[in-house]
Amino acid sequence: MKLILLGAPGAGKGTQAEIISKKLNIPTISTGNILRSAVRNGTPVGLKAKAYMDAGALVPDEVIIGVIGERLQEADAQNGYILDGVPRTIAQAEALENAGIQFDAVVSIEVPDAEIEQRMTGRRTCPACGATYHIVANPPKQEGICDLCGEALGQRKDDQPETVKSRLVTYHEQTEPLKGFYAQRGLLKVVDVRGSVEEVNAAIMKVLGE
Ligand code: AP5
Repeated sequence: MKLILLGAPGAGKGTQAEIISKKLNIPTISTGNILRSAVRNGTPVGLKAKAYMDAGALVPDEVIIGVIGERLQEADAQNGYILDGVPRTIAQAEALENAGIQFDAVVSIEVPDAEIEQRMTGRRTCPACGATYHIVANPPKQEGICDLCGEALGQRKDDQPETVKSRLVTYHEQTEPLKGFYAQRGLLKVVDVRGSVEEVNAAIMKVLGE
């Protein structure tokens, strides 16, 4: 299964990717997590990406296309994967298409902007493994500690309300047109469910026929 998760920042792509990854036994490839790790480690990609990420803008396509091209060569990506946060522009989608990759489905998780702005204040993330929690909707077993790796949880720098607003504008302008791109190819599945993490997941598994 090769799957793309589309959705606004905070729509729940990372949360759902983690669950689907366990259920289907395929890795999640999140450009956001790859870039945050590159920023933390001060790599050349991280140095290029940091200012864009802090401002809530997209990192240039050529950087992302390089990052994702390398990641898809790795051994664990040979039997399928979930792309979380990529593609995010038509140019990125065309680059994947030109690389000959055929996707099985593109799931767009729909959440209204007002709900997203509220959700972001409660998000906590693991700086080590990238796992995502919410203090009310999806809390860790032990407050402030990652269930998966035991690291102390933190808040993302780009979850400040003003940056969230810019990220939403960027999403509507640059990423949302991908819905039309994939609808034309018969791949788009829209999941528009106001519900818990589990309810949204059940709706996704249903559209995937799993
Ligand atoms: P990235 O990390 O991809 O951020 P994003 O798309 O903005 O998505 P998020 O990680 O913020 O949200 P999510 O949809 O994964 O939601 P989550 O599951 O956490 O990118 C960050 C930056 O990197 C970008 O701004 C850009 O600069 C750069 N970048 C990355 N990829 C790029 C690319 N391809 N091209 C260019 N630049 C790129 O959920 C949010 C919260 O809600 C959590 O707290 C969660 O617990 C909670 N929640 C989830 N589901 C529910 C529910 N059903 N009910 C209640 N709460 C819920």
